[in-house]
Amino acid sequence: MPASNANAVVLDGVRLDRGGRVILRDVDLRVARGSITAVLGPSGTGKSTLLAALTGELAPVAGQVQVFGQPVPRSARALLEMRKGIGVLLQGNGLLTDLTAAENVALPLRTHARLPEPVLQRLVAMKLNAVGLRDVAGLYPRELSGGMARRVALARALALDPPLMLYDEPLTGLDPIASGVITSLIRRLSRSLGLTSIIVSHHVRETLPIADQAVVVANGGIVFDGTPAQLEASEDPLLRQFLRGEPDGPIPFEGNPRAGASTPVEAA
Ligand SMILES: Nc1ncnc2c1ncn2[C@@H]1O[C@H](COP(=O)(O)OP(=O)(O)OP(=O)(O)O)[C@@H](O)[C@H]1O
Ligand SMILES: [Mg+2]
Repeated sequence: MPASNANAVVLDGVRLDRGGRVILRDVDLRVARGSITAVLGPSGTGKSTLLAALTGELAPVAGQVQVFGQPVPRSARALLEMRKGIGVLLQGNGLLTDLTAAENVALPLRTHARLPEPVLQRLVAMKLNAVGLRDVAGLYPRELSGGMARRVALARALALDPPLMLYDEPLTGLDPIASGVITSLIRRLSRSLGLTSIIVSHHVRETLPIADQAVVVANGGIVFDGTPAQLEASEDPLLRQFLRGEPDGPIPFEGNPRAGASTPVEAA
């Protein structure tokens, strides 16, 4: 982990295939250390696939993926080691239903660190405290609201103090208030702990305000990479369509009979 490396994540000429199909090609991406990057784009375009390349779950067919200056390894043992440095919050939370909130948060600590039980319990309490859930330690996931469960999952992802956090659709299924709680938590944790955060989301309006960098994935690659302000100001028809959530335009999607048709998009 050379300190001189200003980027937490670097992708160069990356191609990612799934099920024998090219999902993303020619992906060049830099994510600065300590920054928050929003990865946006229509459904099924490869946003989760991009995250899978960062965790080493999916090896690129071409190009290079580096995390903290190191190429993402291929051997299972080296991958396990690298993943200790990456916290992942999955869309479905992934909480184990037969464990309490505290036991869920303790899980990565038990798996990866050998700590005396009182130290472990203290760490778990600190993580739950960090997401504002001091009082739910003994509750089971079914006893939590969706927003609370998401925060427990966030505490679990933070358990090992990973310098890189990946969030895949962290706002899905949450009401606007719970969404606001999660986005402000993500921002606060990123800033106070100096984390590098990558947020994959459909929720453009909620995610852009906390992002330093915005990346849009569409049509098999990265179609935009810049600041949120540059994205908002873009006059590109595809980006305008996506930002406004319009059904007609350059972004084809299933069930749209005009998908792919050269429908004129009103000028910005
Ligand atoms: N394990 C897999 N095997 C084969 N194809 C897959 C697999 N996972 C994803 N795909 C395909 O790869 C493409 C990209 O999927 P991905 O999940 O990365 O999209 P996404 O942008 O995250 O979509 P969403 O916003 O709906 O989560 C899709 O066409 C999907 O069908
Ligand atoms: Mg996805």
